[in-house]
Amino acid sequence: MFSHHRQQENFISSTLTTRNIYNGVATRLRPEYRNICAVDRGENLMGHAHAAISLEKDTPELADTYEEASVVQFDHGKILIDALRIGPGERVLDIGSGTGRLAQYVAGIVAPTGEVFGIDPLGYRVAIAQSRASTGLSFSVGRAEDLSKFADGQFDVVYLNSVFHWIEDKPRVLREIFRVLKAGGRIGLNTQDPSKPHQSRLLVRAALARAGVQVDGAVHPSLGVDGETLEALVTAAGFNGYRGELRTLVDFHADAETLIRWSASSSFGNFLFGLSDTEQGHVRAMLAELLEDKRTPKGIRVERYLHFATAQKPLA
Ligand SMILES: C[S@@+](CC[C@H](N)C(=O)[O-])C[C@H]1O[C@@H](n2cnc3c(N)ncnc32)[C@H](O)[C@@H]1O
Repeated sequence: MFSHHRQQENFISSTLTTRNIYNGVATRLRPEYRNICAVDRGENLMGHAHAAISLEKDTPELADTYEEASVVQFDHGKILIDALRIGPGERVLDIGSGTGRLAQYVAGIVAPTGEVFGIDPLGYRVAIAQSRASTGLSFSVGRAEDLSKFADGQFDVVYLNSVFHWIEDKPRVLREIFRVLKAGGRIGLNTQDPSKPHQSRLLVRAALARAGVQVDGAVHPSLGVDGETLEALVTAAGFNGYRGELRTLVDFHADAETLIRWSASSSFGNFLFGLSDTEQGHVRAMLAELLEDKRTPKGIRVERYLHFATAQKPLA
């Protein structure tokens, strides 16, 4: 299903200009899954307590930067969309649609009679997305946890691209998606995995240590899940036909600053949050040094790892 693009490369140029969780499910899961849930409840992959992810820290500048930098998410989003086999005339919900680039691409696939709805909690990003709106493509502010503005059984496809690892109450979100899908409708998502962190996460961690900055885990939060947990969560919500794959994605960043801007805008203010300007300066300098080891003729090469998954709501 995901076989065409097992390893994908992105080049991020230097032209960027702007600057309960599982409580319900955990008790039903096998013991080894419960441990993973415990990691996500209170600790990040490094074993440090993490602060809650905030949706209040976004800024117009971060939203503008994301609009430029999110070609990374757009490229792997197309893999997800391929796997969902979306066709003309279908009704699609994009949860966490950000600035709307992928939703616009999907609107082109479902045209002329289909419809794509994008929702995202971040007003600045929805405003940018709304500049893409057209017949059959609309955006509004909304969260995955509350799809009450959508009636039961009205979508052929619901997808989340680079969003699931930001969501705390995953069982609730999966239940809501199940509700709004038609019988036979498809869900698609991708997510980070705390047991297989992106190379950049490890490098940031090393940069923090070198800079002598106390890490509380809030500087690079993620609520990702490993593959087994993901399958268990999706199946527990009632979906069948689960197909999943851990994929390696290769990015080339022009320089450390480009990588930091991409991370900061992708994390809507949660990245390196809580550090003083001086500490941030030290961490950036250390990260730049560390990244030099990864320089290639194409740029600084870093790998990311995402689980991709699709499943269906049963026909009856
Ligand atoms: C890395 S961006 C991905 C945006 C877009 N899907 C894309 O492919 O470019 C993560 C997005 O998840 C959204 N998000 C975070 N928590 C969310 C939640 N609880 N419900 C819906 N979206 C959420 C953020 O607002 C942000 O726009």
